Amino acid sequence: MAKPLIAGNWKMHGTAESAIHLASQLGQHWNDQSKAQMIVFPPAIYLTAVKAELDGTNIVLGAQNLSQHSAGAFTGEISADMLADIGCEYVLVGHSERRAVFGESNSTVAEKFSAAQRAGLTPILCVGESLQQRQQDQTIEVVAGQIAAVIDLAGLDNVCRAVIAYEPVWAIGTGETASPEQAQQVHSAIRAQLGDAGKDTTLLYGGSVKAENADKLFSQPDINGGLVGGASLEANDFLNIAQQLTEQE
Ligand code: 13P
Repeated sequence: MAKPLIAGNWKMHGTAESAIHLASQLGQHWNDQSKAQMIVFPPAIYLTAVKAELDGTNIVLGAQNLSQHSAGAFTGEISADMLADIGCEYVLVGHSERRAVFGESNSTVAEKFSAAQRAGLTPILCVGESLQQRQQDQTIEVVAGQIAAVIDLAGLDNVCRAVIAYEPVWAIGTGETASPEQAQQVHSAIRAQLGDAGKDTTLLYGGSVKAENADKLFSQPDINGGLVGGASLEANDFLNIAQQLTEQE
């Protein structure tokens, strides 16, 4: 059985005060780790403060980005070992904003993925097609190519023990969600690409997940949880979404 996960990507939002407040609200109300693991991804500068707030709770910490390099003269970068050192367990790799805004290629994403695993972090590999690619019927091919680039470097078994998040670019922050059927279609193609080794790999859906649409998305057979952006910034909304994941059969 794939482990259900509910992940909140806070992106570049908030202040130290609001980050600590949000972590505290989640920590007070989330105690159901048996059915789903909750992970929050605060801005890097607030990781330590949020970690302190989450100590003693069932919520774990993730980072939004890491360097592919292990150490050295890389001004402004943060290594996988540093993230592990301060208590991160997960890290996002290949988020579409990193790919589109910061020019991360499939091969950079693959290097970051391997760097994360070497440090003992679990990477959440984000994949997804643009609107134009969907309109040109290239969705499955694009997503398969993004995953294949990581398999080429890291190996299939290492990809299968990570987490993959399907986030169609056209659904991120737009209020437009993939329909449960559209999402399931891509998730099942990902599952098929991974083969036997990936039958228990956790596959997340991301892209305008909200309390109103979470249940139907999470009830799809190959969707094992969500990677939530905007709706993870409000404790009640995120808890509501998380609750819907725990209520799945
Ligand atoms: P939204 O939920 O705001 O669409 O963001 C999704 C996302 O990018 C999570 O990583």
